[in-house]
Amino acid sequence: MSLRSGIIELGWGHPDRTLLPAGDLERAAVDALRRHGSDALSYGASQGPRRLLEPLAARISRIDGRPAELDGLLITAGITQGIDLVCTLCSVPGDVALVESPVYHFALQILRDHGLELWPVAADSGGLIPEAVADAARRARSLGKRPRMLYTVPTFSNPTGRTLAPSRREWLLEIAGQYDLLVLEDDAYRELWFDTPPPPSLLSHGSAGVIRFGSFSKIVAPGLRLGWLQTGADFVARAKQTGLLTSGGGINHFTAHVVAEYLHMGLLDDHVVELRAAYRARRDTLVAALGAALPDGCRWETPDGGFFVWVTLPDGIDSMALLPHAEALGVAYIPGPRFFAEGGQRYLRLAFSLVAQDDLVKGARRLGEAIRVA
Ligand SMILES: Cc1ncc(COP(=O)(O)O)c(C=O)c1O
Repeated sequence: MSLRSGIIELGWGHPDRTLLPAGDLERAAVDALRRHGSDALSYGASQGPRRLLEPLAARISRIDGRPAELDGLLITAGITQGIDLVCTLCSVPGDVALVESPVYHFALQILRDHGLELWPVAADSGGLIPEAVADAARRARSLGKRPRMLYTVPTFSNPTGRTLAPSRREWLLEIAGQYDLLVLEDDAYRELWFDTPPPPSLLSHGSAGVIRFGSFSKIVAPGLRLGWLQTGADFVARAKQTGLLTSGGGINHFTAHVVAEYLHMGLLDDHVVELRAAYRARRDTLVAALGAALPDGCRWETPDGGFFVWVTLPDGIDSMALLPHAEALGVAYIPGPRFFAEGGQRYLRLAFSLVAQDDLVKGARRLGEAIRVA
């Protein structure tokens, strides 16, 4: 990623570089080499090293309130690779993937890479609408298509920051069961809550038919390229048999050892507490700055966690057309259409994770100016 000089980048949903625990990871890497060097530098187990899987399972159990089974966990190179692997194993080109709308744009790209047909499913302030999932699955079947999976970010969504209402969670799973949809639960932001912890994951209601993706990218560092997926043991057993994992000796095995060491050092919980405070302060700053700077007719939602504020523009303003003008004034964002299978011109996504507080204020002012002159 390269930052452009003179532009306040509110587009990138990346952690602030000053919040990456470089010193602690350096110690963890040295300790991993000193204590487990020959293991860490050899080919590893397909599922990931036990030194990481065990503390990870304990941590997930504590955070999500339901014991995580060791044989239902698989180490991945981040959520991105996890989704790609699931598509490889569970879909064929031409299958239908129902996708929350709007949703994380790069996941849409991965699903497209696998030749899946994307069918958007509406969401509102309470998250994905379960009846809309049922309608879409029924329609797809009536056209002779196979609705194979549902991709959703139900907790502190990217791009909207919304969280699926607790009352919709079991209902959604019932519908998924009824239509034999594999639910891909992208849980990238669960730990980054600002006031109260979010509702338990979809997977915590029972692992059948749900694959939940987690990552160290947002809570430690994205450059590690390390995450996990959690589901039933059958899927993990199948994944372990793939050439990718058997020949590869597990995914990012050395990094997995370094992160295992970092977990054994007991530093992650305190680090996450610091991240919550830092991102909460940035959210507050950005939301207050938008209130002061955006013209009438703009609306936005205050997220309870995650990295993003989702803005609705006044009637007649198109976020794609607005972007070059905003950039000329020195601020960037991601236009809404990137997050929709179609439409979305009235929206834009701002990330408060990457830039410092005073730049959030300046960025909001520049955006306000761009919208005023549009
Ligand atoms: C919802 C969501 N899923 C996945 C990712 C990427 O995760 P990873 O770095 O673990 O591949 C991101 C990163 O922005 C994200 O916002």
